[in-house]
Amino acid sequence: IATVFVGTIVHSLSLSELEILAPGVLGVSADGRIAFVERLEAGKPDDLAAALTRHNASSAQIRRLPAHTLLLPGLIDTHVHAPQYVFTGTGYTLPLLSWLAKYTFPQEKKFASRAHAQEMYPRAVRRSLRCGTTTAAWYGTLHVDATDVLARTCVKTGQRAFVGKVCMDRNGGEGYVEESAAKSLIDTNKWLDDFEALKCGDRVRPIVTPRFAVSCTGELLSGLGDLARERGGLHIQTHLAENRAECAFVKELFPASESYAGVYRDHGLLTPRTVLAHCVHLSDADRTMLHETGAGVSHCPVSNFGLDSGVCDVRALLEAGCKVGLGSDVAGGWSMSIVEAMRSAIVASRVVGHVKHAAATDAHAAKNAHVALSLAETFYLATLGGAKLLDIDSTTGNFAPGKEFDALVVNLDAGGSEDSGARPVDIFDHDDAAEMFEKFVFISDDRNISEVYVAGRRVVGPSGERVDV
Ligand code: GUN
Ligand code: ZN
Repeated sequence: IATVFVGTIVHSLSLSELEILAPGVLGVSADGRIAFVERLEAGKPDDLAAALTRHNASSAQIRRLPAHTLLLPGLIDTHVHAPQYVFTGTGYTLPLLSWLAKYTFPQEKKFASRAHAQEMYPRAVRRSLRCGTTTAAWYGTLHVDATDVLARTCVKTGQRAFVGKVCMDRNGGEGYVEESAAKSLIDTNKWLDDFEALKCGDRVRPIVTPRFAVSCTGELLSGLGDLARERGGLHIQTHLAENRAECAFVKELFPASESYAGVYRDHGLLTPRTVLAHCVHLSDADRTMLHETGAGVSHCPVSNFGLDSGVCDVRALLEAGCKVGLGSDVAGGWSMSIVEAMRSAIVASRVVGHVKHAAATDAHAAKNAHVALSLAETFYLATLGGAKLLDIDSTTGNFAPGKEFDALVVNLDAGGSEDSGARPVDIFDHDDAAEMFEKFVFISDDRNISEVYVAGRRVVGPSGERVDV
């Protein structure tokens, strides 16, 4: 055992169970894995000594976390666009398809230059890490070279990541489109070969990325489905049913499929390693299809508000048995922070409840209309739910012994002196551990994230400085 953290530890055991150890103790082994985690009897110092002896950790470095500090599992962003970081915070007056044409495609086109990628991608990845995202599922652009830069950036900064070269062979606009399905598949194979040559192990992995059904022909979709399968069951990510105009367009483009979700199923793209962003406009049959194929959902509430796409009914997805994680969807979303996504997920879920309540025909139906996401469920989506969605829950997602130590040290007193008025969070004597955690979710910002660890290595230092690995 190399390091032992002692202090307030919070993590998810399951969708509904949040474990708060106040105080708790967590041991990290020299290879960056969690060796043990347990509750300490408050006010009994002997308890710590006994735990250290029991776990053979007497010679470990002891990190006593100060009061008002939380140790949390790293956050997982299951859907984010690295090249769109540059225009985050602009463009939220246009709906999806016009926004893609006006903001997204012209910016993504610039990544034809490797130098542009080298300048921009480190800023996006560092911002993501700084916000406490220890695992991200990134979209790059159409370009093999720039997407290689993105993967190397994740390796260098120490973030756990899935990185995707985007594929699209129609409806690009201003020349931001690949020449043909065949050329897109050739480039994707080349990019995957280069990726293997990087030899970066399991921490940074490729993910097959057809942008969405609007911008891919059936030939390209099925070619990518085959390729993911033939290359040993690669992960797949795309967008599904984000906006009504998009859904209508897909219906026109693929009249033979039963639904938008059916388009992906018909082309071999719904697998237990498929991540579908948004899923705002789905039917019960679609949700059943996702559950049956094992494909899961990246819920991107900030983006759904930013682009005015709609309000996703996460409860319906969970009740259908679908896997769900959270995504920032920068720059459809205005923040890289998964904490911001948690807040918006809670708001979105409550809105769904109120709309269902208003539409209910009698008092009994109204009462049973909807149960909004709880704080515990929302934190699960941000951590263990995301890990399950990405099929990495045997490696990360909570503090279960044997998993790698992906974690955040959250200092709720950060931001300035007590009386400066500058702190994002104010903690008072009456706040217990559960209330401190609730304040973290609702009012903290990245200033409160004082350290970030991936696989036991510190990748953001105590004063927020970057640490390249
Ligand atoms: N659908 C297809 N491409 C995109 C994209 O870049 N962002 C979002 N939010 N939706 C998309
Ligand atoms: Zn997206």
